Amino acid sequence: MTYTPKILLVTGAAGFIGSNFVHYWMDAYPESKVIGLDALTYAGNKENLVSLSQNNNFTFVHADILDTDKVEKLLQDNNVDTLVHFAAESHVDRSIHGPDAFFKTNIEGTHSLLKAAKKVWLDQGITDHRFHHVSTDEVYGTLAPDAPAFTETNQYLPNSPYAASKASSDHVVRSYHHTYGLNTTISNCSNNYGPYQFPEKLIPLVIANCLDGKSLPIYGDGQQIRDWLFVDDHNRGIDLILHNGKIDNTYNIGGNNEWANIDIVNVICELMDEHHPVGAPHNQLITYVKDRAGHDRRYAINASKIMNELGYKPQETFETGIRKTVQWYMDNEQWWRRIMDGSYKTWLDKNYE
Ligand code: NAD
Ligand code: DAU
Repeated sequence: MTYTPKILLVTGAAGFIGSNFVHYWMDAYPESKVIGLDALTYAGNKENLVSLSQNNNFTFVHADILDTDKVEKLLQDNNVDTLVHFAAESHVDRSIHGPDAFFKTNIEGTHSLLKAAKKVWLDQGITDHRFHHVSTDEVYGTLAPDAPAFTETNQYLPNSPYAASKASSDHVVRSYHHTYGLNTTISNCSNNYGPYQFPEKLIPLVIANCLDGKSLPIYGDGQQIRDWLFVDDHNRGIDLILHNGKIDNTYNIGGNNEWANIDIVNVICELMDEHHPVGAPHNQLITYVKDRAGHDRRYAINASKIMNELGYKPQETFETGIRKTVQWYMDNEQWWRRIMDGSYKTWLDKNYE
């Protein structure tokens, strides 16, 4: 039976995927109400949501998912029926240098939200609700070159502190369905790219460095493989799961689009040669650097379940998606420059308040 989300609490709404989700959702369902919650860590940027500031159906709340009482009050006071949980520490390299924040936010933070949802929905007999947890393909570990892509039944074998924290959070979500009856769903998605991605991640970093003539760091031999999906194709998958996904089910989301890191960087360099010619090919900026500790060699998603059961199909090809993305970073240079120089934390206040 189809479920219709009416009032949503979206955590991590000022981050990369969360902000794209809010824009996607408000465009697709302008009549629904969305509360975007975010702690505005280094990765959260209110500027990502500025075009919604006049939209009466969208409210931004500056809060931490670890603040269970506040989340509980938000759910209660706004009659929220659907919680979509993006908030997380998300960068693998940061998890290697400082794992604590990952275990705190990703595991305890998810548990805090589950406790609030249980209290407001289950303890008051509200059966019409959804708790959707956004997770990652990294929980499944790494694949050999010719191994089949990850399915939902693959064993969890997380390798980085980030992946381990996400894997744990998936288990905590599952336990709240099995023990208490919370209506939960989980999605495990492959690497996203698109507008508003923080320029510490490979694709935006490479675009920004090309524009600045800086070196393009490739970890190790550059032959690690990722399965890239345009961010709104991830959001389309979550949309289908919210409406028609089965409770207590996990859905892999991916675009069947595997690329070695070095190849993707070369594609970006070619696009930069076309859009931003500087007299020398951009791939001259490629620099091989020390490998990431415990670097997973290959991820690949088998998305047959969401395709067959929910009719999922990515709309963006990699060709169109990467072109749009390069163009977006060229058109929104101030957005990433303010992040690079740190002024994004104060710029909004200065400009809008
Ligand atoms: P991001 O780092 O860009 O955004 C995370 C957001 O969460 C930020 O706005 C940050 O301020 C917020 N946040 C962090 N800690 C918080 C806390 N304690 N309370 C409230 N807000 C907090 O991350 P992203 O790339 O947008 O990823 C979003 C989600 O999707 C994550 O759960 C991630 O694991 C998952 N995911 C990401 C990808 C990807 O390729 N980026 C792929 C699959 C799954
Ligand atoms: O697979 C889904 C995951 O994808 C998400 O769960 C994570 O939140 C997200 O950050 C992403 O993780 P990755 O580690 O795959 O993404 P990142 O952009 O950091 O790196 C992509 C690949 O590029 C990876 O193999 C490491 C490599 N890399 C990355 C950077 C930043 C480089 O070679 N050089 C770099 O400078």
